[in-house]
Amino acid sequence: MKVLVIGGGGREHAIAWRLAKSPRVEALYVTPGNPGIADCATCVDGAGGWLETAASLGVDLTVVGPEASLVAGVVDEFRASGRKIIGPTKAAAQLEGSKAFSKAFLERTRIPTAAAVTVDDLELAKKHLGDFGYPVVLKADGLAAGKGVIIAANEAEALDALTKLPRGRLVIEEFLTGEEVSFIVLADGERAWALEATQDHKTLLDGDLGPNTGGMGAYCDGRIISRTQAASIMETVIRPTLDGMIAEGIPYTGFLYAGLMMTAAGPKVLEFNCRLGDPETQALMHRMDSDLVDTLVDGAEVRWKTDPSVCVVMAAHGYPAQVRTGDPIEGLPYCEGSVFHAGTRAGALGGVETAGGRVLGVTASGPDLPSAIANVYRDVARIRFDGMQFRTDIGKKGLARW
Ligand code: AMP
Ligand code: GLY
Repeated sequence: MKVLVIGGGGREHAIAWRLAKSPRVEALYVTPGNPGIADCATCVDGAGGWLETAASLGVDLTVVGPEASLVAGVVDEFRASGRKIIGPTKAAAQLEGSKAFSKAFLERTRIPTAAAVTVDDLELAKKHLGDFGYPVVLKADGLAAGKGVIIAANEAEALDALTKLPRGRLVIEEFLTGEEVSFIVLADGERAWALEATQDHKTLLDGDLGPNTGGMGAYCDGRIISRTQAASIMETVIRPTLDGMIAEGIPYTGFLYAGLMMTAAGPKVLEFNCRLGDPETQALMHRMDSDLVDTLVDGAEVRWKTDPSVCVVMAAHGYPAQVRTGDPIEGLPYCEGSVFHAGTRAGALGGVETAGGRVLGVTASGPDLPSAIANVYRDVARIRFDGMQFRTDIGKKGLARW
C-alpha cells in the first residue's frame, strides 16, 4: 500500500523509518519531511494541501505526526472525502488543543488528575495563585510545544510567571510529585491498543533542572511500569477517557498520549496529547518488533524487542529560547544506532546543518538499559555542531529498576 506521513520532525522520521521496514508498504511519502527522512522515504512538499497531496499520490493510508495539523482538522477533511487517516478529529483533538477543555473533561469524567482552577484574566489568576500552596503549576491554554507550563516555587516566582505566559485563559494547578510516565495508546473510538510505557525528560538540564522543553530524551525498556500498573492505567484513565469522549459525541480515534505522574496515590493525568510523543516515538519505533502497518490497519497487538532503547536529543544553541540555525553538523556517518533528524536542513557545503530547536534524536539499544545508555552516548560523542546541547542523564532513573 501507499502510505503518507504528515510532519518533518524526529517523531516523523522514526515513524517513517519503521514503516519503511514493512513489506506491506510499496511507497512511502512524507510531507514535508527532512534530510534524514529522505533516506527512507520520498519527501514531498505538500504545498497544495494535505488532502490534495494524498489524492494526487494515490495514498491508501495517512499517519499524522504533529498536533497542529490535527487541531486544524486534517482528519475531518480526509474522512469527509473517504480517505483513511490515523488521528483524532478536530473536536477530539481539543483534549490536547485546550488545557481548559481537557481539565474540565478530566473533572467531569472523574479521571485522577491534579486539582486545578481555570481563570480567564490576570486579576482572577492573582487571586487564585495560592489556592494549592507552593510550588504551583501555571499552564497557558493553547498549544505551546511543551513550553506553556511554568512551575513556580513561591508567590514571587508565580507573579513573575504571570507576566511571561501568554495573556488569556490559564490553568492554575496543584503540584504533583512522583515519576513521570508517557502512556500512549492507539484508539479506534471504542477500543485501545497500549504501547509500551516510555519516560521523557522534559527539562533542558541534567537532574530535571532548567526550563521545560519539548523533550530532551526518552527511553523504553519494558520496566518503567509493571503489568499491574499498566492495567490500572487502562482501567482508570484510558477506558473512562474513551467512554467519556463517546458520551460527549466526539469518539477518540488515533494515538492518545496520557502524560502521567505516578503519585503515591496512583497514576494522575498531567496532560493529554492527541498524537505520539516526541522524542518518545524515537525510542518506541526503535524497540518495536512487529509491523506497524498491521497495528494501524488491522489492530494487531504490538510486539517489542527485549532490548531497551534510549533516545538522546541534541538541541541547537539557544534552545528552548531563541534558537540559532545554520551550524554545520559533523560525525553523522560514524554513528552505529539510528540518528533521527528533526531540525536539520541541507548545508551550504554539502552535509547537513542545524535548522531548528531540537536537531537530532540519537537512538540506540542494547541488551540491558546500562548498555543501551552506553551505546547511545557513544554515538552522541561522535556528533558535533557548534552550540549543541544535550542531557547526559537520559534513562538514569530507569537504572534503579535494573
Ligand atoms: P504538560 O505540558 O501539562 O505535560 O506540562 C509539562 C511538564 O510540566 C510535565 O511534563 C511535568 O513535568 C510538569 N508538570 C505539569 N503539570 C504538573 C503538575 N501538576 N505537577 C508537577 N509537575 C507538572
Ligand atoms: N515529549 C512530549 C511530547 O511529545 O509532548
